[in-house]
Amino acid sequence: MGAGIAHAFLVKGSRVVVVERNGDAARSAQERIIASVDSSFGRGLLEGDRELILARLRVSIDYADFAQCDLAIEAVPEDQALKATALQAVAQALPPHAYLATNTSSLSVSGLAASVINPKRFVGLHFFNPVPASTLIEVVVGEETAEDAVDAARAWVSGLGKTAIVVRDVPGFASSRLGVAIALEAMRMVEEGVASPEDIDNAMVLGYKHPVGPLRTTDIVGLDVRLGIAEYLHSTLGSRFEPPQILRDKVAANHLGRKTGRGFYDWN
Ligand SMILES: NC(=O)c1ccc[n+]([C@@H]2O[C@H](COP(=O)([O-])OP(=O)(O)OC[C@H]3O[C@@H](n4cnc5c(N)ncnc54)[C@H](O)[C@@H]3O)[C@@H](O)[C@H]2O)c1
Repeated sequence: MGAGIAHAFLVKGSRVVVVERNGDAARSAQERIIASVDSSFGRGLLEGDRELILARLRVSIDYADFAQCDLAIEAVPEDQALKATALQAVAQALPPHAYLATNTSSLSVSGLAASVINPKRFVGLHFFNPVPASTLIEVVVGEETAEDAVDAARAWVSGLGKTAIVVRDVPGFASSRLGVAIALEAMRMVEEGVASPEDIDNAMVLGYKHPVGPLRTTDIVGLDVRLGIAEYLHSTLGSRFEPPQILRDKVAANHLGRKTGRGFYDWN
């Protein structure tokens, strides 16, 4: 996600500093970002001077390199302790006027705010994968996030040519909560023998113009990932997010979707 976020800002004219955890990770981050930009050029999605775009990128292993940034976006793995440590280090390196954001997809922004120096200037920026192609960013407003930080976040999002939706810091934000709700109902319908996975997906694809049906999306995301989110939403938002038995059974059988060759569909 970090590489995609760097790509999105670079091509819109920002100077971007990426800080990785060690030299090897930094080299591979640099390669990923260059490959991502090159792929956009290769597919005719990007025009302009490649060298100029890439000259705006600096990959480093020193948090002190954030000293001149106006905005920093944390995108380390989804682990509360890891994020807390990274956010603390970034917050200390940023200039006082800068805003700090987290790309968390499920953790509480208000909870993570405990690790930053100025929670008023801290906000969630939930990007979607793949970042360069996706047009949506959720701006997640923590309990202490100030209005000017939300305004700044909206401005950054629109500068990227993407659309912001502003969401209170609740479990699942808006996107995961709605996406998972539809997927869980689709799974219960398979369980009850209402229709085949193909036909349930077609109901949404052809009937409601969703680009991909909820069960195929679940296979692509990974059934284990969806089960984890459903369990979290069940514990925070209540019984309507209780994972169906069919989901638990498929995960137990290692039918995790596309990555293991089988989920609601056969991918072999
Ligand atoms: N993958 C997705 O589809 C997706 C979508 C939206 C949001 N997110 C969120 O984005 C975040 C990152 O997810 P990902 O899938 O890109 O993870 P990833 O594991 O692919 O990448 C994490 C990166 O963080 C780096 N890193 C780890 N510790 C670090 C540290 N202390 N300092 C600097 N860099 C460090 C790693 O080297 C790696 O490059 C998570 O919070 C995730 O929930 C992911």
